[in-house]
Amino acid sequence: MKSKRFAIRTYGCQMNVHDSEKVSTLLEDAGLVAAADESEADLLVINTCSIRDKAEHQLYSDLGRLREWKGEREGRIVGVGGCVAQQVGDRLLGRFDHLDFVFGTHNLRHVPKMLEGAVAGRRAAWIGEEASQARFDLPMRRPEAPSGVRRKAFVTVMEGCDMFCSFCIVPSTRGREISRTAAEIEAEVRALALQGILEITLLGQTVNAYGRHDVRRGRTQAAGTMPFAELLARLDAIPGIERIRYTSPHPLFFDADLIRAHGELESLCPHVHLPVQSGSDRILESMRRRYTRSRYLEIVAGLRAARPDLVVTSDLIVGYPGETDSDFEETLALVGEADLVDSFSFKYSPRPGTAAADLPGVVAPEVAQQRLERLQALQGERTLAYHQSRVGGNALVLVDGASRHGGDQLSGRDLQHRVVNLEPGSRGDVGPGSVVSARILGATPHSLLAEPLPDAASNVA
Ligand code: 5AD
Ligand code: SF4
Repeated sequence: MKSKRFAIRTYGCQMNVHDSEKVSTLLEDAGLVAAADESEADLLVINTCSIRDKAEHQLYSDLGRLREWKGEREGRIVGVGGCVAQQVGDRLLGRFDHLDFVFGTHNLRHVPKMLEGAVAGRRAAWIGEEASQARFDLPMRRPEAPSGVRRKAFVTVMEGCDMFCSFCIVPSTRGREISRTAAEIEAEVRALALQGILEITLLGQTVNAYGRHDVRRGRTQAAGTMPFAELLARLDAIPGIERIRYTSPHPLFFDADLIRAHGELESLCPHVHLPVQSGSDRILESMRRRYTRSRYLEIVAGLRAARPDLVVTSDLIVGYPGETDSDFEETLALVGEADLVDSFSFKYSPRPGTAAADLPGVVAPEVAQQRLERLQALQGERTLAYHQSRVGGNALVLVDGASRHGGDQLSGRDLQHRVVNLEPGSRGDVGPGSVVSARILGATPHSLLAEPLPDAASNVA
């Protein structure tokens, strides 16, 4: 019998991207094969995001349209996972009769079983919270990426969030914080290095809170874990791992050891994505972020002192309830003071069940929109200025594949995680998976243009 083919649509953050990779591997282990595209698939899984209202609505519009997809061929199955699944659970099954199964953020392991049930005509929603290490017990992704050689991998170090920032739905969709043991993380990274992985990105909702406590036992350092900076040092020592990144850290857990690590660990990349959310202390307090603007600036200054070529990027929210013009001006000023090289900025979106959802002082949508545009215009100028400052210098590029501009232009990321496009007609031995030293020739708001240096490519592919 021909194997069933599956496709996965992924929305949201890198955690979701990694969850989709895990589901793919589970499905492959169960005998399915990845479809070239959705029109060929027998199973379609949607991995959802609910961080903002718009992301959540995406699911409802997707599901509406999938009724037709499902009807096109007998036996097609539709599954929904991720944060909306966790939040809405079996009510999704009630609302969409063509939906076959729903799995929560802790239930990836059960997808093959749920698929089996769905094939036998049983619809189900599993969204129980899994508080044990068992939820990390998932098969590792195979060395080959669908597009060829794989050099980068995500590695989960902790999941969940106990911070309860006033605006954020994540603590209710991802549950309580739980860290993997350092031994397991180390073993995974060693195995990845043996597969040829050069770059790892450590993932966690508050990744630098790694191992910080084990509520049930009243400990401050969970069994089998260690402080985050120590974990980084362990991973830095693994042969073959050339680049270590982590996302997203929280300023509250940014200690002196972590700052020092950036000056000491050779494979730790000179880029930190450190969400600040607002430049106003009043708003930060209402957001329950538990740091001040000046503490944030102190961390950034510490990082730059430890590693002068380090780039800081951030997340910012505008139009949070009660945000005045002067609060917003402080956010604008922070972009400059912290010298943010890039940022993701969002209009505040009230989320069900969060503390901020009931706050007075709702900001008019047109005011929030204007603030967003001003912020993004300022950030755009600063990003371009940073890119221009790099022209004439060098970049060490890990090539991902063809650039978005088509032709034979290749594209990759440098140590600072900037997109670098390589001049078309680059040397023939440079291809996906190569690490290449390149001279930066030009800058645009979104990328750098560079030319590989004559003898500096280590084509590891
Ligand atoms: N509204 C707008 N932006 C939000 N984020 C999280 N929750 C909300 C919300 N309710 C943003 C934050 C976070 C990023 C992942 O999404 O900036 O860092
Ligand atoms: Fe959300 Fe705050 Fe947790 Fe980040 S730290 S996931 S913003 S609650």
